Amino acid sequence: MANINDSSDPLHAKNKAWSGRFSEPVADFVLRYTASIGFDKRMAMADIQGSLAHAAMLQKCGVISAGDLEDIRRGMAQIREEIKNGTFDWQLALEDVHLNIEARLTALIGDAGKRLHTGRSRNDQVATDLRLYLREELDEITFLLNDLQKVLVNLADKEADTVMPGFTHMQVAQPVTFGHHMLAYAEMFERDRERLISLRHRVNRSPLGAAALAGTTYPIDREYSAKLLGFETVMQNSLDAVSDRDFGLEFLSAASLIMIHISRLSEELVYWMSQRFNFIHLPDRFTTGSSIMPQKKNPDVPETARGKAARVVGEMCAFAVLLKGLPLAYNKDLQEDKEPVFDAIDTVKDTLHAFIEMMPGVEPQREELRRACQAGYPTATDLADYLVRKGVPFRTAHDVVGRVVRKASELKVDLHEMPLSVLRSFSDKIEDDVYDCLTLEGALKARNHTGGTAPAQVRRQVALWKQLFEKRLADAHAGEYDR
Ligand code: ARG
Repeated sequence: MANINDSSDPLHAKNKAWSGRFSEPVADFVLRYTASIGFDKRMAMADIQGSLAHAAMLQKCGVISAGDLEDIRRGMAQIREEIKNGTFDWQLALEDVHLNIEARLTALIGDAGKRLHTGRSRNDQVATDLRLYLREELDEITFLLNDLQKVLVNLADKEADTVMPGFTHMQVAQPVTFGHHMLAYAEMFERDRERLISLRHRVNRSPLGAAALAGTTYPIDREYSAKLLGFETVMQNSLDAVSDRDFGLEFLSAASLIMIHISRLSEELVYWMSQRFNFIHLPDRFTTGSSIMPQKKNPDVPETARGKAARVVGEMCAFAVLLKGLPLAYNKDLQEDKEPVFDAIDTVKDTLHAFIEMMPGVEPQREELRRACQAGYPTATDLADYLVRKGVPFRTAHDVVGRVVRKASELKVDLHEMPLSVLRSFSDKIEDDVYDCLTLEGALKARNHTGGTAPAQVRRQVALWKQLFEKRLADAHAGEYDR
């Protein structure tokens, strides 16, 4: 809390918004233990935005005067500046962002500042702030996911013909293209985007006006303040409005999935870089050395990302446990909602930035990837499919090919290197056109349908993705980004 003034001057107690009924100042450790200013000041701009909408609503409903509203606007403009240029004096004794800003406002403008809190409570205020804050971050993360998809699609375009072994059970299974492999991740990040866009609607509801828990006795217009803040709807139950944090858990689960997807990609990059595989190279700027082994070049970025996935998943668990069994309505426990959300936001954004920078630097080692395919007879299924096309039932074909593979392994040759006479000794249905489907290229080309790995399909998908990116860009310019 470097820039927080924590002088325990008992005078501060007098400044407290709630000190009237107390006969002694709060103990120092209680202040430190229960304060949230160390982390919630990052919602300061949302807090001011919420207060300005609340004040405008109070004025419209005749609760405060036009002069008061003008003073509040002037004071808040100055506070915004002070926060932006780092001169705002955050006080630990004022607990949280809400009381800090309100106290400063009152110091600047007097009584009008004291009227701001009419018809509201910190309970609806904090719920409003968190929703406003998260709404903006959701949009940023959605954009970052789109940028990462673009990078993956460009890589897929470049590597649409690059053959590599596809694995199941980490055993060489069938050849796929590197481009196809990259597009698998673009799909995952698309579902991640969808989750954020859908969640945005549930975040974008106004709790403001629920006050402490039961509503307020003033003639307020909740629809009006909601509209000023760009909320889509007004929360219909005041108890729910101040105590609902499901959206936080939803965010953390969406963030966890983003990080889980990133961690799978990370794991692949890590083993692809291992000398045993040598499937890819990464430029030096994304790797680090060892302090003892001079030859080392470690994939630190993907490893760090794989590790950071753990902490976001941990935050999701912490948040779920925080909500479990919590009675209505507001409880101070809920103050613990912010740090996991903030940390997950930072972690996801940093990680996406890192991958947007790094992925274009991935250099597939084409020769090595091709050599790796030769190790595990990845076109064996193609031979079975060939026999099926010649009228052999699939199970029989499977059995025949199993014996062909055993022979090839004895002879230490690949399937396409076996002489026709040897192949025919297993089935007389085999003719010299068999070699077309035993090559890696033949196997790739044959899987030419929606979702298949054929280079032509990868190119078709790349084109569709590029159209989608164009459309999103156009929509964003038209101010109707798809939400
Ligand atoms: N700092 C508090 C929080 O984050 C604000 C709400 C406090 N409300 C209260 N009644 N003490 O939840």
